[in-house]
Amino acid sequence: VILDIICILGAYLIGSIATAILVGRAMGLGDPRQSGSGNPGATNILRMGGKKAAALTLFGDLIKGVIPIVITRSLGVDDWILAAVALATFLGHLYPVYFGFRGGKGVATALGILLALLPFMGLAVLGVWILIFAITRVSSLAALLAASSAVPIAFALSDQSSLRALVVLLVLLILWRHRSNIQRLLDGRETPFKKN
Ligand code: G3P
Repeated sequence: VILDIICILGAYLIGSIATAILVGRAMGLGDPRQSGSGNPGATNILRMGGKKAAALTLFGDLIKGVIPIVITRSLGVDDWILAAVALATFLGHLYPVYFGFRGGKGVATALGILLALLPFMGLAVLGVWILIFAITRVSSLAALLAASSAVPIAFALSDQSSLRALVVLLVLLILWRHRSNIQRLLDGRETPFKKN
């Protein structure tokens, strides 16, 4: 039980590392919380003009979803603890202890989690994101549709209750964190990225 608690707590602390804020600071772009959508995520870093910085943010937020799962799994804990570790990482990203509990929307970190738990599931969801983004150039819309597709994909690929419950929870939290984006999409005010 002690080991389980250490894994869950450690996952939350790793999830709390807000890559966008650190990268924005290190690369002189400024604070993503003060610019654009105000969201500390790869999309907003890209909006602030940093292609390299955005790629780095995406990578950092994604890999932080992977690492706690890989480590915990290697310790042989049960499925529900693994799901709790994944959720703790995700909640760290949304509510980071180091940054006043004001974090991101969870898309990249959730993708890392899905890839680590069941690579096919992660790839399928990533495929939906890429497809929708290629068509619409709107990151939030790609995220919302990819997240919504994750539930049927997870249920089709796995009958593990812990994994199914985790995916449903992650998706609900992602939808909740995108409520301002949903409002903008409905109002036709969510601006697409330009083709380059
Ligand atoms: O991953 C976040 C993305 O879906 C939306 O970001 O900055 O457009 O609110 P943003």
